[in-house]
Amino acid sequence: MKKWLVAIVVIGIAAVAAAGTYLYAGFYEIGADTPHWPVTLKVMESTRTRAILRQARDIQVPSNLTDAQLIVKGAGQYATMCANCHLAPGLENTETRSGLYPQPPNLSTHQMDPKATFWVTKHGIKMSGMPAWGLTHDDDTIWSMVAFINKLPQMSPQQYQEMVAKAEPHDAMHGPDAHGHSPGNNSGSGNEHGHNQNQGAHSHGAKKPGAHAPHAHD
Ligand code: HEC
Repeated sequence: MKKWLVAIVVIGIAAVAAAGTYLYAGFYEIGADTPHWPVTLKVMESTRTRAILRQARDIQVPSNLTDAQLIVKGAGQYATMCANCHLAPGLENTETRSGLYPQPPNLSTHQMDPKATFWVTKHGIKMSGMPAWGLTHDDDTIWSMVAFINKLPQMSPQQYQEMVAKAEPHDAMHGPDAHGHSPGNNSGSGNEHGHNQNQGAHSHGAKKPGAHAPHAHD
């Protein structure tokens, strides 16, 4: 074997061993308050974008996406389950969003392809905090959110409030585990004044996990 080839193989093995030791020994900066290295971020972002593009490409977009009733239904869902992370017209920031890394995109300023919106809403995104809502919501309900999100960038704060008010309160709730999601629509930026989103230590953690787990579909 040529010497340079041997050198490359040895360097490669040493690099993998060093990376493995670094990770195994617990040095990886796992905290959400430490940004990724630029190269890690690039690889992750491109992996995410390309995966969504590929996996969403055969989705059929229903023809009723501009149906007013569907959009109103989606408004109720969105205010209850999404606005806390993805904001809304008139909702500039939230404590949850400020602390998340990657930070959830502001869907009220950000026009998206409906196929990708559907795919991400249904399946979620690993290691990001974006839940797979398809485990607890049927496709029709997810399409209502897509229909609403499609309109969101053109909405004023007042139109947004009116539409959310029009949605039946229980339209926002679906399935056996629907009660208890309340973080939705706290208007105002709310960053300075303490813990008004999670009422103390117990409620948080007590209601979410577990209850959903056995809910897997067939
Ligand atoms: C706990 C916070 C959180 C909640 C609640 C949440 N998301 Fe997300 N969402 C995220 C994060 C974080 C990302 C970005 C993930 C990434 O970039 O890897 C994301 C990404 C997305 C994207 C992709 C946006 C883009 O530009 O690619 C869509 C669409 C989306 N979420 C829809 C929703 C909908 C609809 C709901 C409510 C049913 C929702 N999300 C609730 C955290 C959340």
